[in-house]
Amino acid sequence: MTASSRIAERLKKVNPSSTLVITSKAKKLKAEGKDIVNFAAGEPDFDTPDFIKEEAIRAIQSGFTKYTPTTGIPELKKLICEKFKKDNSVEYFPEQIVVSCGAKHSIYNTLLALVNRGDEVLIPLPYWVSYPEMVNLCEGSPRFIKTRSDNNFKVTPGELESHISAKTKLFILNSPSNPTGCVYNKKELEAIAKICVEKKIFVISDEIYEKLIYDGLTHVSIASFSRDIYDLTVTINGLSKSHSMTGWRIGYLGAPKDIVEAISKLQDHSTSNPNSIAQKAAQAALSAPDDFSKKICAEFQKRRDYCAKRLGSMKKITYVLPEGAFYIFFNIAKTGLDSGTFASRLLDELYVSLIPGNGFGMDDYCRMSFATSHDQLEKGLDRIEQFLNKL
Ligand SMILES: Cc1ncc(COP(=O)(O)O)c(C=O)c1O
Repeated sequence: MTASSRIAERLKKVNPSSTLVITSKAKKLKAEGKDIVNFAAGEPDFDTPDFIKEEAIRAIQSGFTKYTPTTGIPELKKLICEKFKKDNSVEYFPEQIVVSCGAKHSIYNTLLALVNRGDEVLIPLPYWVSYPEMVNLCEGSPRFIKTRSDNNFKVTPGELESHISAKTKLFILNSPSNPTGCVYNKKELEAIAKICVEKKIFVISDEIYEKLIYDGLTHVSIASFSRDIYDLTVTINGLSKSHSMTGWRIGYLGAPKDIVEAISKLQDHSTSNPNSIAQKAAQAALSAPDDFSKKICAEFQKRRDYCAKRLGSMKKITYVLPEGAFYIFFNIAKTGLDSGTFASRLLDELYVSLIPGNGFGMDDYCRMSFATSHDQLEKGLDRIEQFLNKL
């Protein structure tokens, strides 16, 4: 065995998480006592609501601490079906649901179940950092569809169609999107659905930011349009962003039965069931009215407006106003710096951490998260302004 053959080939194509470099440097500086403003967060800054925690405590105390059915407990799967019907007008039955260890796990399971070696997977660019790497892990071939800022970073039907080849198996749709916050409307999704049906391409619809959507816009699920697109779609969601439950690791998917059967086998022989206690907590979350997600959504909208106003008055920065999620993806081309240099200088010189756009496929952008308090936003934006002024 040589040094280079110790690690399996499939991992050689996979890049480490680009967010890691900045976040670990920020942690180090913080440990040294530096006053770091964190605009890198990928999770809501609110605590998980008490009624959810209490249900988890009850689950522990009553001994609900053993294996559950692999795809999730029946009560939770029933609630997920009700949620899909009520919020998304999509009808799934419990045997079409798999609960997994976070939405990321649901997406990875889906890719493993659908992608053969060499299959092409279409991914809008900029993209969430994990999509291409998960496709690489499945030995598929990520193909990027570069979107335009003047179309709010949304893929047009023409752009989608022109990237489809005989090898295309799947299209990954993420609305609201990380990192841009763009939200597809019904008409745009119908046009995408029509192409996917005509060309027989599967869709992974990652709807994890569904509840964080602004300006009175409504979220639309692509699987709701027709039987044809429903049969090609795997709808992904979870509790991480809507209920501030990132650490609990509960995500889920709804899909046609044959896909669910394949994913169930996979999960059976890999992770087994997601954590039993977290499933009970998820049951409490989905049984309650949407008050918590509405509350955090209203707060995020206020913060977005504040950040947009501040960034809008800064030299050398442009952005498209996000309509959902909790990020602003801003253009730094006029600074003359690439995103890695911009982010590391901002951290070294003014102690603000944010994520360079190169990890999302765009090196002339950076992503700031507004999942932090107003005071921190004010302080961090003052520092960004100072940084830009001295460039
Ligand atoms: C677009 C997108 N999809 C999925 C996920 C994963 O969510 P989870 O924490 O439920 O695995 C994230 C997390 O940041 C995300 O941004």
